[in-house]
Amino acid sequence: MRLLFIADIVGQPGRRAVTELVPRLRREHRIDVVVANGENSAGGSGITVKTAEEIFSAGVDIITSGDHLWDQKEVVQLLEHEPRFVRPLNYPAGVPGRGSTLFQSEGRPTVGILNLQGRTFMPPLDCPFHGALAEVERLRRNTKIIFVDFHAEATSEKVALARLLDGRVSAVIGTHTHVQTADEQIFPGGTAFLCDGGFTGPHESIIGREIEPVLRRFLTNAPQKFEVASGRVMLEGAIVEIDDTTGKALSIRRVSEAVAG
Ligand SMILES: [Fe+2]
Ligand SMILES: [Fe+2]
Repeated sequence: MRLLFIADIVGQPGRRAVTELVPRLRREHRIDVVVANGENSAGGSGITVKTAEEIFSAGVDIITSGDHLWDQKEVVQLLEHEPRFVRPLNYPAGVPGRGSTLFQSEGRPTVGILNLQGRTFMPPLDCPFHGALAEVERLRRNTKIIFVDFHAEATSEKVALARLLDGRVSAVIGTHTHVQTADEQIFPGGTAFLCDGGFTGPHESIIGREIEPVLRRFLTNAPQKFEVASGRVMLEGAIVEIDDTTGKALSIRRVSEAVAG
């Protein structure tokens, strides 16, 4: 089974990349399931019902999230009513929504999708390590094919979580930094890993935002409005090939594709 993961979709350019490239990627690579991180998909901050709908209609099966979860008020509607929308599992008890879900396309095995958020250089949440162990245990009662989007800042935290889950999940791919790393590998237990998938959106930018305001902020520390940039739009992420019966990864390949025009 083949899974395409799309790293952080940023604003309208990111959604355009998804609409233009996902149908072709699905066909060309015979993809069974598409998971995309949508935390920055609405104007670069958060997600709305409409932007989620646009992403789903482009051929994305499951949308994950991260620390920008709450940036748009409407997200509550997605959390409460959209089974294809997953938020980090390790929010405290009582927060609406789900941290994992099961997905099955016709005639294909069930896939578990789990979203977690890191705690190093990030807002405090419950422990993603203990949370992951318990949730993976629960998901494995239904399927051995499990994909984890670990939304975290620190490379060490991402490697550590993936090492902890080696042999228990099919793949761990990091998101949040918006910079794709070149460390794709399969650990001895059969878990594919990529520290960060990058981001889907305008790369003539500073991690998706217009360059000038970000520079002014660094140079003066005065608050600036960070608009989503527009140039050199790319779709980034990875394709993971997984053994249907064992749930172990067979290959992982980075994706970094330019949108024409
Ligand atoms: Fe992001
Ligand atoms: Fe983030």
